[in-house]
Amino acid sequence: MHYFADDLSRDVAARLWSAAIAPRPVFLIASSSPESIRNIAPYSSIALVSIMPPIISLSFGIRLGNLKNTLDNILATGHFSLNGVPSSLKDTVPESAQGLQREDDFNRLKLTSRKFKVSPSPAIAESLVSIACELSQLIEIDGSLCQLVLARCTELLFDDSAADGAFFDPAKSDLIASIGDDHYTTVNGKTFSLPRARE
Ligand SMILES: Cc1cc2nc3c(=O)[nH]c(=O)nc-3n(C[C@H](O)[C@H](O)[C@H](O)COP(=O)(O)O)c2cc1C
Repeated sequence: MHYFADDLSRDVAARLWSAAIAPRPVFLIASSSPESIRNIAPYSSIALVSIMPPIISLSFGIRLGNLKNTLDNILATGHFSLNGVPSSLKDTVPESAQGLQREDDFNRLKLTSRKFKVSPSPAIAESLVSIACELSQLIEIDGSLCQLVLARCTELLFDDSAADGAFFDPAKSDLIASIGDDHYTTVNGKTFSLPRARE
């Protein structure tokens, strides 16, 4: 098969590119509004772009002409947390993607929050691995409605059950990654699907 990118409809492009550039880690991003309403949503356009200092990139689409709650919160407060998704938590991914209302998502999703040492962002205890991040740059992407965030990782928190000595072991917590459309794989090689509502 061969495709020219410019010939693809949005739906076909979404399926093709998200499968061709995969797997991509799935994180639940926890953020807070200035009024302290806690938000959780899944994101997978995340890459580690620098190690010293640790910097990640993350891209946000627009929903019905508006910023998604997560980006809105990040721009307002400057911080958020990335929370890995162990396979035991996989059903939270489509459930958390549906919370368009401003409500406390820790309560809605029945998740437990835990604190970092310094960052004010909440972490998700069930995630086993959480990373506190601070907004560094917001970049408009030429020719795209998506916006790119660069953020600095300031704290790394993981459970002893997911540790290999002093290091984090993604295989022990069986983290999931997106392989396009509704399909996922675990780092231990088990694939599965999680249907989600279309936006
Ligand atoms: C596995 C998965 C990965 C996603 N990755 C992204 C992403 O990288 N960027 C994005 O804008 N939306 C992504 N989404 C869609 C958002 O999760 C969805 O728009 C959500 O409702 C946003 O919630 P919020 O407004 O509370 O931030 C993803 C959804 C799923 C299920």
